[in-house]
Amino acid sequence: MARKKIALIGAGQIGGTLAHLVGLKELGDVVLFDIAEGIPQGKGLDIAESAPVDGFDARYVGANDYAAIEGADVVIVTAGVPRKPGMSRDDLLGINLKVMEAVGNGIKQYAPNAFVICITNPLDAMVWALQKFSGLPTHKIVGMAGVLDSARFRHFLADEFKVSVKDVTAFVLGGHGDDMVPLVRYSTVAGIPLPDLVKMGWTTHERIAAMVERTRKGGGEIVNLLKTGSAFYAPAASAIAMAESYLKDQKRVLPCAAYLNGEYDIRGLFIGVPVVIGEGGMERILEVEMSKEEREMFAKSVASVQGLVEACKGINGSLA
Ligand code: APR
Repeated sequence: MARKKIALIGAGQIGGTLAHLVGLKELGDVVLFDIAEGIPQGKGLDIAESAPVDGFDARYVGANDYAAIEGADVVIVTAGVPRKPGMSRDDLLGINLKVMEAVGNGIKQYAPNAFVICITNPLDAMVWALQKFSGLPTHKIVGMAGVLDSARFRHFLADEFKVSVKDVTAFVLGGHGDDMVPLVRYSTVAGIPLPDLVKMGWTTHERIAAMVERTRKGGGEIVNLLKTGSAFYAPAASAIAMAESYLKDQKRVLPCAAYLNGEYDIRGLFIGVPVVIGEGGMERILEVEMSKEEREMFAKSVASVQGLVEACKGINGSLA
């Protein structure tokens, strides 16, 4: 069987890390695309030269022409400008919307059957715009946010409890913004929900609230430390988990920015919810019950995504 073809649009920090992980996990051959000449070619060659050492087989092609992504099975989009210190995700809107238009046209022409994962921020609005520009069916395009947000929460929880990250699950809903909704009672250590761990004396409500807050601001924390860019290792790992679930039909239940068509009483927006990813793409949306307080937080998060989408429509009339 021919190897799968994975196209990475954007060969920056996340794109390069994605390319390396695809090789290390032997998910398929890689096309790195970027507008910057030499970067995708250089990174592709560098990673290909690491393959004999690590012992993986994957072909790497660097390109500045969309024709190279022809027939890709998976497309992961990181093209755009990342956040700089002091810049909110929303400041990026105007610049990255134009990038999504170019990327959407490229996908429409060369890879209309691909499963597409968008990472570019502001995520929930960019994946919405990318779906419009590419014309992809809504079950074949998702945004990467929830896997990353819940991984951050899991890291903080595992660190707090001094247990393996493998035994910590976390549940995050809503947009990928500072008002995302980490659902504490659906987050567990080996199946034991966090509120029960408070009763067991493992932690306190205050400490959990602090970890929730740190999760919400997790992206900004890294930006402030790096000063010259935003997070890339954990975002890349998160998108790879989603791509792998599609390519291997794992049917993993992962929180993704998915197109809602009436679920959670929302229509026509991409919002972070738990979904099943398998060979059909985004195969199913899980609708979980929320408390009144959680519903209010979720509504606030949805409203800020809606605001960004309206702003996109204002910038580009063809999206209205
Ligand atoms: N087409 C293709 N590539 C583009 C385009 C475009 N129109 N515009 C910019 N790029 C490329 C840049 O040349 C750069 O190589 O996108 C790449 C982005 O890489 P980085 O600046 O290193 O950004 P990265 O850290 O990878 O983050 C990418 O993901 O998390 C989000 O907020 C982040 O939106 C940002 C994206």
